[in-house]
Amino acid sequence: MKKFKIFYFFIFFLIVSCGKKEDLTVSLVNEMKVKDVGEKYAVEFLRTLKQSLMKAMNKGGPYNAVEFCSEKAQYLTRLVEERIDKGIKLKRTSFKYRNPLNKPDKYEKEALSVFEEYYKRFGQLRPYYVQKVKEKDGKYYYRYYKPIVVKPLCLICHGNPEDMDPQLYRIIKEKYPKDKAVGYKVGDFRGVVRVSIPVKVIEKL
Ligand code: HEC
Repeated sequence: MKKFKIFYFFIFFLIVSCGKKEDLTVSLVNEMKVKDVGEKYAVEFLRTLKQSLMKAMNKGGPYNAVEFCSEKAQYLTRLVEERIDKGIKLKRTSFKYRNPLNKPDKYEKEALSVFEEYYKRFGQLRPYYVQKVKEKDGKYYYRYYKPIVVKPLCLICHGNPEDMDPQLYRIIKEKYPKDKAVGYKVGDFRGVVRVSIPVKVIEKL
């Protein structure tokens, strides 16, 4: 009988301990740390992409740059992740995405909505947004989101299709038949850079 009691107690303990969820609230102190780390790598990532885009544009104009973006954008993302080397993961995402690989997951959708709501209410972009989530690999990460704004240069490939170079638009449509990333104006909210930072990277700081 006693053995049974111990056995049941053990099962009860297992259920209680396994059911315990990681706390997903983000303290102000941790938010500030995530902001520092996230902003640093978001800026580094965007700078790398922009430099490569400008190089491709200068070398062979927009046709060359589209080829370059479609072949190299994902590769450059992995390259910057490797350079940082802390288990940090990067992504660009948007409600109106061009590459299906950049489609938002449910947490990214929540973040994009927060930026859109803020923009509607205050007429300007929220500077950043922070979350704590369990990602597909089963591990917990802090996520830092930085908004991306449309500049005049972007309209060459993300503007109104009627105003775009027809040949360029054709190339884009061939590569991305389900492209949603057109019709933007200067100053629009284009999407976000997402920086996922393993919880232990922040806790060590
Ligand atoms: C020469 C054409 C070109 C120009 C100029 C350009 N883009 Fe893009 N953009 C692309 C292509 C092609 C992709 C898809 C990349 C991929 O396959 O991952 C893309 C993807 C993106 C994405 C990732 C989300 C998605 O839609 O897949 C963002 C965000 C983005 N562009 C923002 C910008 C911004 C902001 C500018 C201006 C600073 C800009 N782009 C200028 C061609 C361009």
